[in-house]
Amino acid sequence: IKKIGVLTSGGDAPGMNAAIRSVVRTCAYHHIECIGIYRGYQGMIEGDFKEMGPRSVNNIVNKGGTILKSARSKEFMTPEGRKKAYDNLVNAGVNALVVIGGDGSFTGAEVFNHEYGFPVMGIPGTIDNDIFGTSHTLGYDTALNTVVEVIDKIRDTASSHNRLFFVEVMGRDAGHIALNAGIGAGAEEILIPEEDLGLDRLLESLKKSKASGKSSSIVVIAEGDKIGKNVFELKDYVEENLPEYDVRVSVLGHMQRGGAPTCYDRVLASRLGVKAVESLLDGKSNFMVGVLEDKIALTPLEQAIKGKSEIDMELLRVSDIMST
Ligand code: F6P
Repeated sequence: IKKIGVLTSGGDAPGMNAAIRSVVRTCAYHHIECIGIYRGYQGMIEGDFKEMGPRSVNNIVNKGGTILKSARSKEFMTPEGRKKAYDNLVNAGVNALVVIGGDGSFTGAEVFNHEYGFPVMGIPGTIDNDIFGTSHTLGYDTALNTVVEVIDKIRDTASSHNRLFFVEVMGRDAGHIALNAGIGAGAEEILIPEEDLGLDRLLESLKKSKASGKSSSIVVIAEGDKIGKNVFELKDYVEENLPEYDVRVSVLGHMQRGGAPTCYDRVLASRLGVKAVESLLDGKSNFMVGVLEDKIALTPLEQAIKGKSEIDMELLRVSDIMST
């Protein structure tokens, strides 16, 4: 392998820049070339490439977003799109790819690898933390800290006005952010897709909370929750059934995806980038580089895509006890 291409794909996540930097510098350290591919697979199809050396990634370890930009490419899902991408890589002399992204991005990498035998290595980057084979994805820790900081602020106003707040956090299919940030911020209830609390139990719990002397409450809800009502419908439902509650809604949205990565995400990104490049140089391909029990671990891409990242159900019990 003489030249590695690196791209970021799917939803951006804090720590992606630190991972790009790590890939570029590890290539330089091993005296191989590196090119950055802009806008994920779309840039691969359009040949939007840039040679990268150790100085092209100066001062980005602390930056949110991704300097390579990101996209969700529909064209790469077609064999014609992938053929164009392959031709561009061959013309640019690229022999292997590092793909930083979530499961959609890994699916693209896997298909591409099967079709062309092109060496690929994945680095999990998504705030949702919903990837099998790693305890942490890049950006997750930063997003947790952002959410906790914001809920602390919401708590100030909730408590001044004796209000109940529904706070919706990201997590398309997974409740990792909601559960962990919810516990960290002292939420009364946490609604996640992995557990159906049900409307009756939610009302019960809110009644109990009022009766126990709490004057304000925070309920954290993952956007992918399956309680059957969106966060605004939940507000109406609770106000109808528990008129003693004055309810407000706060949807945190994309602010959760921005900001400077935490130290944890920067260190993780650095470690994953080194391992991704060195694994390719060792002749490995079609793996995701993750972290398990604080050790860097390779998981076949196929498993990383198909496997389910489990929620620690004990955390739900901890949350219940904490809201006593
Ligand atoms: O996968 C990360 C994520 O932020 C999800 O939590 C969210 O559902 C989705 O991306 C939003 O995607 P977009 O930025 O394309 O609206």
